[in-house]
Amino acid sequence: MDIPESNNRLRISISSQKGGVAKTTTCLSLGASLAEQGYSVLLVDLDPQAHLTQALTVDPDSLRRTVGDVLLLQANIDEVSRETEFLSMDILPSNRGLILVEKLLHSVNGYEFRLRASLDALKDQFYDVVLFDCPPSFSPLTINALTVSDLVIVPVTCDFFSMQSFRAYTNLLRMVKKNLNPGLEYRLLITMFDRRTRMSMMFLEQFREKFGNRLFDTVIPIDAKLKESSLFGRPINLYARKARSAQEYRALALELQSCQKMTI
Ligand SMILES: Nc1ncnc2c1ncn2[C@@H]1O[C@H](COP(=O)(O)OP(=O)(O)OP(=O)(O)O)[C@@H](O)[C@H]1O
Ligand SMILES: [Mg+2]
Repeated sequence: MDIPESNNRLRISISSQKGGVAKTTTCLSLGASLAEQGYSVLLVDLDPQAHLTQALTVDPDSLRRTVGDVLLLQANIDEVSRETEFLSMDILPSNRGLILVEKLLHSVNGYEFRLRASLDALKDQFYDVVLFDCPPSFSPLTINALTVSDLVIVPVTCDFFSMQSFRAYTNLLRMVKKNLNPGLEYRLLITMFDRRTRMSMMFLEQFREKFGNRLFDTVIPIDAKLKESSLFGRPINLYARKARSAQEYRALALELQSCQKMTI
């Protein structure tokens, strides 16, 4: 997949119905790696838990405006987005108010396209890559992200429940592709991989067998430094440049730039 050179933006959802599989960590670490490699990046926090917002040391409760205002058409993206202390990486923050926004959206005709319209309307601010951190549910917030994305990265851990959950999720992705966004593709990313356990190695083989070239070659290892980095409010590539996970997220950013289009 080529990262567009000019007005086209690459839009990527990080999404899975399963909780705690490193969606937010991947959004932040991949975003920071792409920024490090020279791209301008917008991170969009679509989770009422606001972990991504907090990871960038923004206090969700202090926000006057959030991505929720964009979804309710009460603000434009450039009125809500904020610079982070990291060069070339902005955030469209979230807070708990998004729970209410999610409920309101249910009754709005065409709510699925709200985010798409707001991004298309962005005139002065240009981003090479927009990354959406989705909540662990198939809600109107997630559907907005999937409708606007070229690619969904689905983080999976090497265990039985993750594999089951991923299978169910592919059916939902197919529905979105069929009804809302024909250009949507998906790829799997193995996260929190523990090469010391036999079970991890076994599931890695199974994922490779079943999903082949939909699986990123890059595998993100389990790494205590990643947990630590969020405590210090810094993306891993800045907190511990040489950590294994930092190197693998950099590799993921490079792989993303070279991977081919796939069809769901
Ligand atoms: N490779 C890793 N090694 C060790 N810990 C990790 C790794 N990736 C993520 N974590 C930790 O696992 C926890 C869950 O990660 P994260 O919040 O990114 O998951 P999530 O999928 O966004 O969760 P949710 O579904 O609640 O949004 C966090 O404490 C995070 O620091
Ligand atoms: Mg999260």
